Amino acid sequence: MISGFEKLNEAKRFVQSKVPTFPDFLIVLGSGLSNLLNEIQVETEISYQDIPHVVQTSVEGHVSRLVVGKLGGVRVACMQGRLHFYEGLKMEEVVFPFRVFGMCGAKVFFLTNAAGALHPDMQPADLVLIKDHINLMGTNPLVGKNLDSLGTRFPDMTHLYDPELRGIVSQTAKKLAMELREGIYVGLHGPSYETPAEIRMYQILGGDVVGMSTVPEAIALHHMGKRVVAVSCVTNLAAGVSPTPLEHSEVSETAKKVQTKFCALVRESIQSMETKL
Ligand code: HPA
Repeated sequence: MISGFEKLNEAKRFVQSKVPTFPDFLIVLGSGLSNLLNEIQVETEISYQDIPHVVQTSVEGHVSRLVVGKLGGVRVACMQGRLHFYEGLKMEEVVFPFRVFGMCGAKVFFLTNAAGALHPDMQPADLVLIKDHINLMGTNPLVGKNLDSLGTRFPDMTHLYDPELRGIVSQTAKKLAMELREGIYVGLHGPSYETPAEIRMYQILGGDVVGMSTVPEAIALHHMGKRVVAVSCVTNLAAGVSPTPLEHSEVSETAKKVQTKFCALVRESIQSMETKL
């Protein structure tokens, strides 16, 4: 049987055949945040379904592709769509595309997501720079045989969310006169939203926002020595913090509203990173 590492290598060879020089920067667009693609001068597009060994899921209305091109003059790769643990996948399947793009040469991963806010003083459309996470998904993408050629068995996670890159994103937000607070992202299995009692527990644990993505890929990328920075778009107040039950449409609506400021933050942060790194 073909090993996990051979699968990664096959996928890497395929992507390299389409994108021989992979950009340094990879941006992951969270749900509803795909407007950034309109700003990209597209060079190449790869549908995930064409990449060997990427698991196919059938979430309605989800387009899953990698777009390579220039954003504000900087060459980037953009992942539109990611795989989620709640789809019933194994963690290694969720992180597979990230590992492939890392192996192709991406160095900086700018992750974005939609998240629920744990504090009543936060509002839908707020942006939160993730300074750390609490993994409550019940497992870890590095479980199983370690891929020694990617990273060490017991990787340190102290600076998972790169302090220098966080500084650049904070500075960029200041320059754009945009409010950007820092917070702890609580990563949950999903797909049901949380109960109010669970949300109270996450508040006590020290969380600021909750969501169902980001944590697996952040761990797997840090394991590979990649630089990670992540921003949550608050799409709703979490269950019980909000007086009304959650609707998924609320998440999509708010994500739409926030696109302009969100796109500016990502574009200008990447420009600044390119000059500073
Ligand atoms: N909970 C979990 N995931 C989410 C939420 C939420 O309230 N909003 C957006 N993603």
